[in-house]
Amino acid sequence: MSSYKIALNFEDGVTRFIECKAGEKVLDAAFRARINLPMDCSDGVCGTCKCRAESGRYDLGDDYIEDALSEDEKDGGLVLTCQMVPQSDCVIAVPAASAVCKTGQSKFGASVAKVEPHNDAAIVLELDVEANAPVFLPGQYVNIDVPGSGQHRSYSFSSAPGESRVSFLIKKIPGGVMSGWLESAQPGDKLDLTGPLGSFYLRGVQRPLLFLAGGTGLAPFLSMLEVLARAGSQQKVHLIYGVTRDLDLVQVEAIEAYTAKLANFSYATVVADAASSHPRKGWVTQHIPADALNDVDVDVYLCGPPPMVDAVRKHFDDEGVTPNSFHYEKFTPNVAPKAA
Ligand SMILES: Cc1cc2nc3c(=O)[nH]c(=O)nc-3n(C[C@H](O)[C@H](O)[C@H](O)COP(=O)(O)OP(=O)(O)OC[C@H]3O[C@@H](n4cnc5c(N)ncnc54)[C@H](O)[C@@H]3O)c2cc1C
Ligand code: FES
Repeated sequence: MSSYKIALNFEDGVTRFIECKAGEKVLDAAFRARINLPMDCSDGVCGTCKCRAESGRYDLGDDYIEDALSEDEKDGGLVLTCQMVPQSDCVIAVPAASAVCKTGQSKFGASVAKVEPHNDAAIVLELDVEANAPVFLPGQYVNIDVPGSGQHRSYSFSSAPGESRVSFLIKKIPGGVMSGWLESAQPGDKLDLTGPLGSFYLRGVQRPLLFLAGGTGLAPFLSMLEVLARAGSQQKVHLIYGVTRDLDLVQVEAIEAYTAKLANFSYATVVADAASSHPRKGWVTQHIPADALNDVDVDVYLCGPPPMVDAVRKHFDDEGVTPNSFHYEKFTPNVAPKAA
C-alpha cells in the first residue's frame, strides 16, 4: 500500500479526506492538502495537535514526551497528528472547527438516476454524483438543495461509500418541500449537494453492535451493513427497525439480504400502531434482547426522528444501561411542525 485514506472529522461536523503516503505523518499529509490542523511545535512536545483516532491502525513512534500525550491518553485513543504514521485507512476526530483549519464543506453536483416510491410512505432516491464528489463515512449525511426553493434538506446516505451512484431513503411528508419536489423529479435532473457531514458514522468495530432505527432512520444503517458485509465482518450485529404504521416498513428485503451476506447479523421489525397485526408491537426499546446488550460491552447506534431518539436515550438512562459507546443522529425537521 503506497498511501492511506485519512478522514478528518472536524467538530462542526465537516469531514475531509486526505491521502497519507506510507511513512508520512498525518500533520504533514494534511498540510499538503492545505488543511492546517492545530499544531505548535510539530515535535511531539506541546500536545497542541492532539486528536482522537476513531478507527484504523497507526504508529505513534516514541519521539514524543509524556507531557504531550500520556499513556492513559494513548490507551484511550488519543494521538498526536505530528507523530502519527498511519498503517491503514484511519478516521480522526479533530477538536477544532473546519474553518479554523482553513478548510470547509465540499460542494458537488449530482443528477437524478431513479426515484422509487415505497408504499406511499418513503422514496428511494438514487443519484449519480460527479467524479469530484468527496468520499463519506458510512452513517454520514449530505445537504441537498431543493431546486427552485432556496432551501436544502439533509439526508443520510443509504448506500456504501465509494460508489458513483449513491442512494437515500426519504420519508414522504405531505406538503413537504423536498417530498413535493420528488413527486415530479425526473432522471437527469441536476442537484447541488454539500457534505459529507455528521459525526454519526461507524467507528472501528471491536465488539457487538446494536443498531436502533426509527422509520427512515434506517438509511445510515443500510450503508453501515453494506460496509460490514464487504469487509467480511464476523462481529455480532443486531438491528431493530421500528416504525409507526405497517406501511412505513420499507426496505425489509434489503435488510433480510444481510442475513445471508453478513455473518452473525440478525434483525427484528417493530410496529407501534395498536391496530397493526405485526408480530412485534410497540417501541424498539421493548424488543431489545438481553444478549444484544452483551453485558453492556456493546456499541449502540441510534437514528430516527427526535422523539424516538430521546425516548430510547431516556430508556437507557432509566434502566441504568451504559453501553461501551452510544452514537445517535436525530432527523430534526428544518421546519417547525405545524400546530395540531
Ligand atoms: C442530519 C439529518 C439527516 C437526515 N436524514 C434523513 C434521511 O436519511 N431520510 C429522511 O427521510 N429524512 C432525513 N432527515 C430529515 C430531512 O432532512 C427532512 O427534514 C425531511 O425529509 C422533511 O423534508 P420535506 O422538505 O419533505 O418537508 P418540510 O418542508 O421540511 O416539512 C413540511 C412539514 O412537515 C413537518 N415534518 C417534517 N418532517 C416530519 C416528520 N418526519 N414527521 C412529521 N412531520 C414532519 C415539518 O415540520 C413541516 O411542518 C434528516 C435530518 C437531519 C437533520
Ligand atoms: S504539534 Fe506539538 S505535539 Fe504535535
